[in-house]
Amino acid sequence: MTVHFLTLLDIEKTQLKSLIQRAIALKQEYQKGNAPELLKNKTLAMIFDKSSTRTRVSFEAAMAQFGGHAIFLSPRDTQLGRGEPIEDSARVLSRMVDMIMIRTFEHDNLEKFAAHSSVPVINALTDMYHPCQLLADIQTYIEHRGDIAGKTVAWIGDGNNMCHSYINAARQFDFTLQIATPAGYEPNRDVMNAAGDCIKLSHDPSEAVCHADLVATDVWASMGQEEEQHIREQSFVGFQVNAELMKLAKPDALFMHCLPAHRGEEVTADIIDGPQSVVWDEAENRLHAQKALLEYLFNPTR
Ligand code: CP
Ligand code: NVA
Repeated sequence: MTVHFLTLLDIEKTQLKSLIQRAIALKQEYQKGNAPELLKNKTLAMIFDKSSTRTRVSFEAAMAQFGGHAIFLSPRDTQLGRGEPIEDSARVLSRMVDMIMIRTFEHDNLEKFAAHSSVPVINALTDMYHPCQLLADIQTYIEHRGDIAGKTVAWIGDGNNMCHSYINAARQFDFTLQIATPAGYEPNRDVMNAAGDCIKLSHDPSEAVCHADLVATDVWASMGQEEEQHIREQSFVGFQVNAELMKLAKPDALFMHCLPAHRGEEVTADIIDGPQSVVWDEAENRLHAQKALLEYLFNPTR
């Protein structure tokens, strides 16, 4: 059976937890100089309709370290970019490669692609979700603080793709997510409703960070929303993660940001570059978490 990874809900809770443990183990092995060629001669196609540094490099490096190969595909160079139907592109690519990673705008298009692919499809970010980033974030939390179950996480800022994946992570990893967004920038209602008691929504950042073990944020204007940058800067006043706000969280609270970050907007430099920040580990863990993901999707019954 082909298992896709379009959201965090596509992998069952216990398997998701094992996957994170596997990521931690693969990282330790790699640091000792052990790089087993677990995907020798396998090929990953990577379709990017939006820019990327971490996602592209981490997937490409992961495939190289596993003895496989990755192909970068941009809409500028493919027939998909000239209007070849998604369904046809999915059928063709999945006859040639072993797995496909997609970063695009509409989540529906990712689902359409997956429906016509005979090989696993990975969501590398859509306007709705960014599940790969959450694998890295959870791995990072566990490495620094142990189990995240029962903990309190604060999401400050936009109710965007990252926020939606944090909501799904709260369900899958059993933590409480306290969200604060400006009015009009709340997360998707269906995503929130499905999470039930795992989440609390307010419009007050100081309420959201109360008792938080982890504080996370993201840019105020995501890719595709560049024209809204100015208006969003006005709407998000008061939603900056700064020293004053971090003081209201637990004293040992960690700070995360998926990056790229805008210092002076959603986060101040003293916080992102300060002792509570684990953003560089978080970025590095994209590599290790995705190695565990690739291995799992090639053999999901293991
Ligand atoms: N966090 C993240 O997905 O970064 P990139 O946009 O650089 O891939
Ligand atoms: N919310 C951001 C995440 C980037 C990794 C975006 O979609 O642009």
